[in-house]
Amino acid sequence: MITITVSEKNLTEQAKKIAQQWGFVFSPSSHDQFFLQLTPQHLQLIQSDKHSPGPIYIDFTSGQAAHRRLFGGGKGQTLAKAVGLNKTPSPIILDATAGMGKDAFVFASLGAKVILMERSPISAALLTDALQRASLDEEISEIINRMSFVYGDARLLASDRGSELNEKPDIIYLDPMFPHRKKSALVKKEMLAFQSLIGDDNDSDELLNVCRQLAKKRVVVKRPIKAPYLDNQKPSLSMNMKKHRFDIYFV
Ligand SMILES: C[S@@+](CC[C@H](N)C(=O)[O-])C[C@H]1O[C@@H](n2cnc3c(N)ncnc32)[C@H](O)[C@@H]1O
Repeated sequence: MITITVSEKNLTEQAKKIAQQWGFVFSPSSHDQFFLQLTPQHLQLIQSDKHSPGPIYIDFTSGQAAHRRLFGGGKGQTLAKAVGLNKTPSPIILDATAGMGKDAFVFASLGAKVILMERSPISAALLTDALQRASLDEEISEIINRMSFVYGDARLLASDRGSELNEKPDIIYLDPMFPHRKKSALVKKEMLAFQSLIGDDNDSDELLNVCRQLAKKRVVVKRPIKAPYLDNQKPSLSMNMKKHRFDIYFV
């Protein structure tokens, strides 16, 4: 069970609400290997051992997200081409493995309406906190208004939860955790921390099949460059980057 703490006492009530919403336990302090901490600036995940990458939080307003929004290459970047943003001007994209919301924010910055789906309560709490704070930022609130969050396992969209999406997505984007056997430069430190906490996504073959039924136009899967295809299904086309590739399955 994950503990949530606060950096300042006056945030206690807010932290207790977050604990209740996502099933965490509130405690004034924690010495666990992983715990959440609410600060005036953001909700953050802290790893307290010596391999710690430092606090992990999501901030759409500055840092890497802002840099990528301003200088990331727009619709010319491979990620945008893979999902077809140059072909469909304002599509509905379901990011069914939202994680830290980095890719989803790129899609929304480029005009897409994005539904972010995530099943880990830790990622969900970090994401909803970041979306809520960013919606108050004048410069990017218009982008954030195009992003909505759905908590749950995207594999269930095939059955009872499919009706939760008001409209069928044009594009579904998948970036499941790849089970890395050893630490490699490919896996950023923060993702490694997440991976050791959340675990590998060993059920993503099933996810691909659900999504191929649901998407109107295409399903795009991000994979490490040498990884096998999901569920051994050959894509219609792949776009390679240095370390990753995008496998594109047209409907
Ligand atoms: C590698 S991360 C995604 C990173 C993301 N593309 C980004 O830009 O930050 C994978 C995430 O997908 C989530 N995930 C995997 N399978 C899922 C499923 N079936 N339903 C919902 N979330 C899932 C995991 O919990 C994890 O947070």
